[in-house]
Order: sequence, then C-alpha cells, then structure tokens
Amino acid sequence: MYHKNVAPNDLNAFWMPFTSNRQFKKSPRMLVSAKNMHYQTSDGREILDGTAGLWCVNAGHCRPRITQAIQAQAAELDYAPAFQMGHPIAFEFANRLIDIAPSGMEHVFYTNSGSESVETALKMAIAYHRAKGNGSRTRLIGRERGYHGVNFGGISVGGIVNNRKMFGSLLTGVDHLPHTHNLAKNAFTKGEPEHGAELADELERIVALHDASTIAAVIVEPVAGSTGVLIPPKGYLQRLREICTKHGILLIFDEVITGFGRLGAPFAADYFGVTPDIITTAKGVTNGVVPMGAVFVTKDIHDAFMNGPEHMIEFFHGYTYSGNPIACAAGLGTLDTYKEEGLLTRGSELADHWQETLHSLAGEPHVIDIRNIGLIGAIELEPIKGEPTKRAFSAFLKAYERGALIRTTGDIIALSPPLIITKGQINELIDHLREVLRMID
Ligand SMILES: Cc1ncc(COP(=O)(O)O)c(C=O)c1O
Repeated sequence: MYHKNVAPNDLNAFWMPFTSNRQFKKSPRMLVSAKNMHYQTSDGREILDGTAGLWCVNAGHCRPRITQAIQAQAAELDYAPAFQMGHPIAFEFANRLIDIAPSGMEHVFYTNSGSESVETALKMAIAYHRAKGNGSRTRLIGRERGYHGVNFGGISVGGIVNNRKMFGSLLTGVDHLPHTHNLAKNAFTKGEPEHGAELADELERIVALHDASTIAAVIVEPVAGSTGVLIPPKGYLQRLREICTKHGILLIFDEVITGFGRLGAPFAADYFGVTPDIITTAKGVTNGVVPMGAVFVTKDIHDAFMNGPEHMIEFFHGYTYSGNPIACAAGLGTLDTYKEEGLLTRGSELADHWQETLHSLAGEPHVIDIRNIGLIGAIELEPIKGEPTKRAFSAFLKAYERGALIRTTGDIIALSPPLIITKGQINELIDHLREVLRMID
C-alpha cells in the first residue's frame, strides 16, 4: 500500500485533469478507500457516492468478484499482445459482452477509455463507407453540447465550447445538430420531455446542405451526460434513426455513461428501442476499476472490412492495451456482479422513487429545473450574475463537507449513483442536497 495521507505540499507534480488545480491544492479533497456506496476521506470521513465515481462504478466500490478476478489474472497472465496474438480471456469477455448487447451488435473492438472508443467508432464509420465503395462519405455530424471525450475527433464532433475553443481548428468536415435543451418548454419534466422531437429533422437540413453522399455518420449520446444531463425529447432518437437509415448514414450511440444499466435497461438502445449501427462504451464495462472501453458493431460493419488477402490486416487501428488481460478479468468480474445482483435492470425498480425524491427539491433556492431518467438526475441552478459555475461549485464543496459526492458541470448538479443504492440512501443524498441548496449563496 502506498502513502495514504499526502500532505498538501506534496501535491505539486500531479497536473490534475478537469480540475481547478490551484483551488484543489490549497484545500485538497482526498479519497483514500472505498466500499460499496461510500468513499473514505483522508480525514476519516465517509462520503456517500452520488456519482458512481465518474459515472462508472455501477456496481459500487471494491466488489469482491472484481477484486479477486484482477488479483488472479495478474498472477496468471499479466500482459499479452493483442496484435497478431490472442489470449483466451479477451475472446471470452467479448462473447459475454455480445450476450448482453442490444440485438444486432455482434462484434466488439477493445479500447482503453471512452475517448478512444469514440475515435475508434468515428474511424470505423469512415473506413466502412470506403470499404463499401463510398469513399466520399467522410463527414461526421455531432451535436451542440455533446460530450464525446477529449481527443481530437471527440472534441470536433462534441459541442462543449470550453472543451473546443483552446484547441485550434479541430477536425474538418464536421457539422452539428442543435441540442435539445429547452427550459422554456420542458423545465421540471419527469422523464422524457414532450417538446423537441422535431429537432431531429435538422439532420435533413444538414443533409440538404452537404448531400448524403458526403456524410459518414451521426454521433449522439442517447442521454447527454457531461454537459448537464439532457434527456432526449419523446420520439427524437427514433426520428434520428429513421433519417439516418433513409440516407445511408451510420448512427453511433455514445453509451459511455448510459451503457451497463444506468437507465434501468442494459443499454440506452434497449431503453429507447432504437438500434444504432455502432455503440461506444467504457466506464461501466469494468465498473471503472481498470481502464477499458468497448465498441460494439453490427455484422454488416464488421463484415465490410473482411475482404482482401487473408494475410492482410483488415483495420489499421488498435491500442497496445486493447483487450488487456487484467482489464478483461475485471470486466468478467463486473458482468458476473451485474448478473448476480440484477444490476443491469435494477435502475428500473428504483426509477420512480428516484424521480419523486429528486423532484421534491423543486421550489428550493436557486433551482430552475430538475430532470431525470433511469438513475440519472440533474438539478439546474440559476447562475450567479457574471459568475457562471460558481454557485454549483459551492454546492459541490458544501456537499462534500456534509458527506456526499455530487458532480457539477456549469451550474448544473448531475447525479448518477451506483446501481446498488438503496431507497434510504437516495433519501439521504437528496436530503444532503436540500440542505446544501439552503446554505449556498
Ligand atoms: C458520452 C461520453 N463519451 C466519452 C467520454 C469519455 O470517456 P473517457 O473519459 O473514458 O475518455 C465520456 C466521459 O464522461 C462520456 O460521458
């Protein structure tokens, strides 16, 4: 075990990701251990995990099957290359993933993160069309406010200004659908909002502008998470699917947060009854324990690559750690845990209680919207004039002081607890938030 108690003056070397480094290093928030629904801090406090880490620890923390699987695998086969070589557990895990994947998904490509899954999917889409003789289909369509990780493809199709504006001209040949957030019409909706399905028709306008023969794929998060939980209007995803099919455009669902039970169904594709051509995943694939991502594709996409001489590599893409044995072991331990405890559908049993408890915050200070789906929730706060994000950040700090981990993005509080949460713990989390909203300026 390495040092658990790190003094503040030791913190300089680590340039922390997506963090206000100077603020953090003045008053650090250190998590030193975790079990099930709770973290333990370096000052000996228990913190209720309201965010499943970063939307990833779906089965809760330090689950025995996962821990044991990793330990055993590390002692048996620590690393093996996956380029022109194989190891059994990578194939076993892929089969197990396909068993739970939405119907139509028949193959899995391994990555190490959500960002890499997105890059992989975008490259696959362009290369697929080329393999089919449609080499002019290279354009990629994302959506305003979309989050698809932090690599160049992902930020190009993504639509979060702060993630894009510092990084130059990004990928060319990208266009964006409008986002679907509409407070004026949909505020305080429980579940899917009524208004906005017609925003999918904007794809027709984009097709008319560029011509379908130049467009490879549309990528969207079925439920946009990191931008602050934007839930698709009723019928929106179905319409997007229809328009993509009509024009021969591939539809990619970025299920990095919605995959593995977050909505109360194994995948958002199952929940909404809409089947995309490619699904990107990460996070819950190993319960967040070992970095891993997985891209699911249909037989049609996979088979389009399987041509040419057999000694030739079909897809010039992959990572040193694609299908890493320890990640696969963690994944198998994770799927066993999900199965034994019914976690891929447990969210549907809790969704009503989650919804009603969350919406009981309506009327508390600063709250301008509350939204929810499955075991995801968001509370949007009125920003402080001239100081956007400050109010939500204060809420985050106060919640942590009180013993709850929440996540904020802009002035939105996002919640996504582990799927093992009890009704009592849901009440506890929301009670913390009620107190926090009453405390902050
Ligand atoms: C929808 C979506 N795509 C991609 C990513 C990027 O995943 P990672 O941070 O593992 O690269 C995230 C992360 O939150 C995400 O929510």
